[in-house]
Parts: sequence; structure tokens; C-alpha cells
Amino acid sequence: MNDKQLVAQHAAKLVRDGMVVGLGTGSTADFFIAELARRQAEEGLQISCVSSSIVSMLKAQELGLSLVAIENLTRLDLYVDGADEVTPDNTLLKGQGADLVREKLLAKASEQFIVLVDQSKMVTHIGANFPIPVEVMPFAWRLVQNSLQQLGGQGTLRQNSKGNGLAVTSYGSLVLDMHFASTPEIAEFNHLLSATPGVIEHGIFHGLANTVLLAENGVVQEQKPAD
Ligand code: A5P
Repeated sequence: MNDKQLVAQHAAKLVRDGMVVGLGTGSTADFFIAELARRQAEEGLQISCVSSSIVSMLKAQELGLSLVAIENLTRLDLYVDGADEVTPDNTLLKGQGADLVREKLLAKASEQFIVLVDQSKMVTHIGANFPIPVEVMPFAWRLVQNSLQQLGGQGTLRQNSKGNGLAVTSYGSLVLDMHFASTPEIAEFNHLLSATPGVIEHGIFHGLANTVLLAENGVVQEQKPAD
């Protein structure tokens, strides 16, 4: 079993009957979804799920998990997802996929947001390994790019996976992938990005994760925000 599987199994043990559970997106979240489906089939676990993306919805449907539409929820008990980067204070970078908006909504609406990572995701600062994704209204992208340049950012619109056009999110928006040589303190930076007109959402998840479960060489550790 690899570290992603291990940490996903660890998280799935925290799920109890009657919970509404948010399903993340990515290879680690897929292991979590598979383990929930196994517990449902073998242990009679009774839960409702809400998906963070079309991909996680299809995966859950295929495995027989029952799904609730996000439109029908005002809260959920638990949201479990991966991340692209995690800093020591549990700030996350997410959004290499195309579902930032839904991911952050679920993270905010959940009683508990648990993040599953292996050692490769741990960084000293956000943006260490990946550009910061900023989802923008299509007509606003040049103006947003200019605003972000004034904050010291450099970047351009994300290309689709074939490289023959632009990447379009689940909501029909575009994504600016931005590099910042240096940034203000993370809470202020988070606020500055959120407050930029034309920005729909961005990939910094600050103050949202309750627990990061980190798997390294077959051992799972918990990282709480105060650590
Ligand atoms: C999706 O938009 C991201 O936020 C994912 O959570 C992230 O890419 C994690 O993917 P893996 O679990 O495959 O590393």
C-alpha cells in the first residue's frame, strides 16, 4: 500500500453513520472514496456524500455512494481532500484541477476539513512548487492579470491538457497561473487575492484545514494548525 492509500484509509476510519461527507478530487481523494465505498458495502456504513467536482461525482456514483446536490446543503460534517502544497501552519495550495470554487465552498461549510498528503506536498511557503491558480471571469482576465502584476505576480492563462487551447473550469471560467517572487504575509496575501475585482476564487486555502494527515514511509502523522 502506498502512502496516499494509507492516509486515505486512516481518514475513512473517522467517518461515522449519518454523516454528510464531502469528497475531494485527485488521486488521494480517489483512494478515500474507494475506502468509503468498501466500508459501505462491507460494514453497512450509512452516509450521504457531496462531490467537489464532476470527476469525484462520477467516481462516487460508479462505486454506489449516495450523493446529495450541493444546492441542498447548508453544512456538512466532514470534507476530505488532497492538496498540492501544505505549509507548517496548515495553509494549503489547491486547484491544479478545475474545481476551486466548489472545493473552497465545501472546505468552508464543513465542521471538519481533513487534508490528506504525502511528504512530497510539504513546503515552507505557498508557491514553492506550483504557481498559484487564480480563477477569473473570462472577460476580466487581462485586468486581473494587471492587478496581480502590481502585487508582484507574473503569469498567464492556463492551457488545456492537450496544449491546443485554454483550460476552462467547471464553471466556464479561465485560470491565471501566477508566480510571485515574494509575497506579503499569508493572511494579507490571501485577502489581497480575494479582494481583487474579477477574481472568482484562488488556490490559497488559509485557516480552513482543521487537520492535515501526513503519510511518510508508511506512518501517518497529524498536523494541527497550531503545531
Ligand atoms: C484539485 O484541484 C487539487 O486541489 C487536488 O486536491 C490536488 O491536485 C491533489 O491531487 P493528488 O491527491 O492527486 O496529489
